[in-house]
Amino acid sequence: MINPNELAALRQDYYRHELSRSSVADDPFEQFTMWFDEAVSALIVEPNAMMLGTATTEGQPSGRTVLLKGYDGSGFKFFTNYNSAKARDLTVNPFCFLHFFWKELERQVFIRGLARKTSEQESDDYFAMRPYQSQIGAWASEQSSVVPSRKVLEEKFAELKEKFPEGTVPRPRYWGGYRVTPDHFEFWQGRPSRLHDRILYTRHEHGWLISRLSP
Ligand SMILES: Cc1cc2nc3c(=O)[nH]c(=O)nc-3n(C[C@H](O)[C@H](O)[C@H](O)COP(=O)(O)O)c2cc1C
Repeated sequence: MINPNELAALRQDYYRHELSRSSVADDPFEQFTMWFDEAVSALIVEPNAMMLGTATTEGQPSGRTVLLKGYDGSGFKFFTNYNSAKARDLTVNPFCFLHFFWKELERQVFIRGLARKTSEQESDDYFAMRPYQSQIGAWASEQSSVVPSRKVLEEKFAELKEKFPEGTVPRPRYWGGYRVTPDHFEFWQGRPSRLHDRILYTRHEHGWLISRLSP
């Protein structure tokens, strides 16, 4: 068991890779693809798990992990319940961040942008691909609301399985995707002596401005 007072002595030196202006792609989506492919090759478990940060209009922040389910030059896609706490935040304040931490590669990627709901068709297509149990789960969970007990949830799940046999589950209207369109990407590579490499891309009129940030 670790004594909390010993946490100050826990430290890791980073040395595996480096990142420079000359080695990065001009397009941050391309750079993301290179790093994502390396995360997959490194056999990182759920390399597509990302922290989604949202905030209310009063600036009250929240964060949670969601799974990246696709991306292209128009943005990064995840799926969720449109009545959840995150969706309530995104309705009043669509600015959000996505954060990946691939510790085995000593890397993080921070993306900031604007979230918009995906089309009904995209949500339908993805919902249809989900395993049966996950489809039923989407119906069974009033995500982010108080549930009296686990038993209540499991009973609801069983009832819904009766109602919707496998292959017949429609997408709930309150369930679907968001696409986050970035205006800011930061690629962070851990380096020795805390002199980490940080490459920032910010969107401007004709493309992306690239700069190095101090660690
Ligand atoms: C690895 C992992 C992946 C997850 N993926 C999703 C996801 O893709 N969509 C989702 O709605 N919740 C996902 N969750 C659950 C969320 O973290 C969160 O508990 C849930 O969405 C409710 O968040 P909210 O109350 O802030 O809206 C995942 C959790 C973990 C740990």
